[in-house]
Amino acid sequence: MYSSIFGGIITDPAAMVIPIDDHMVHRGHGVFDTAAIMDGYLYELDQHLDRILRSVSMAKIDLPFDRESIRRILIQTVSASKCRNGSLRYWLSAGPGDFQLSPSAFLQPALYAVVYQDQSPFVSKGIKVVTSSIPIKPPQFATMKSVNYLPNVLSKMEAEEKGAFAAIWLDSDGFIAEGPNMNVAFVTKEKVLLMPHFDKILSGCTAKRVLALAEELVREGKLEGVRVGNVTVKEGKSASEMMLIGSGVLVRPVISWDEQVIGDGREGPVTQALLNLLVEDMKFGPSTVRVPIPY
Ligand SMILES: Cc1ncc(COP(=O)(O)O)c(C=O)c1O
Repeated sequence: MYSSIFGGIITDPAAMVIPIDDHMVHRGHGVFDTAAIMDGYLYELDQHLDRILRSVSMAKIDLPFDRESIRRILIQTVSASKCRNGSLRYWLSAGPGDFQLSPSAFLQPALYAVVYQDQSPFVSKGIKVVTSSIPIKPPQFATMKSVNYLPNVLSKMEAEEKGAFAAIWLDSDGFIAEGPNMNVAFVTKEKVLLMPHFDKILSGCTAKRVLALAEELVREGKLEGVRVGNVTVKEGKSASEMMLIGSGVLVRPVISWDEQVIGDGREGPVTQALLNLLVEDMKFGPSTVRVPIPY
């Protein structure tokens, strides 16, 4: 763990703590992001850094360091952890100082980062989803990755209580939005990859990369095209394939939604092909998406 409060990297789990008077703890005034570590490389670090910098500005939190210093600290933290396959999660917080609501001038913005090993990196078994009854966050909060994940947690718990993997949110107009920590996409009967646009949801780094990688399937004739826009529930439930996309799930086939079978009820070929392309990109992709860790 790295903590700007200690001003260094800690490898003793007992010391991996954050102050209780940190505004992120008692007021939720913090933002975070997560990047995957694959074979000793950080995947899409710069894309995830861009996103946390957008989040931190939306949350009106000052930066404790400039972007380059944050980047360097994150890479050093992964290096110190010796972890070669796992995840890097990092937070920018209004910082510790008092228990007031508005952050006073005395608060020192903080950076925290932890590295953890992942249990199951790429599982391609089809899963079930349900529609979330927990309200979606309004766009101002859904487009920012703040620590206010209570709706996401309750949505995931609701899904698990119903024997599903995740619950899917619809937006205020009834269009398909996203899952609690992943985006969602479909393959239509016309073989078009269809994804809800990012205006009211989190702009997924993995989903955006998958959109770019899907062009390969268009060239190979496995897809007719790629479209980002409004997706109705009817379109989604009648698609040939449905998938969840994110740093945690990578590309995961969905075989039923609200007990309605998607496609032929089996893992779809385009979903599998997109997972293969993503894993290949994580292992052998260009330097724009793979940052080597100097262990
Ligand atoms: C609400 C939400 N949507 C989508 C995603 C997927 O984003 P990414 O692919 O960058 O992990 C996440 C993951 O953090 C998320 O929390």
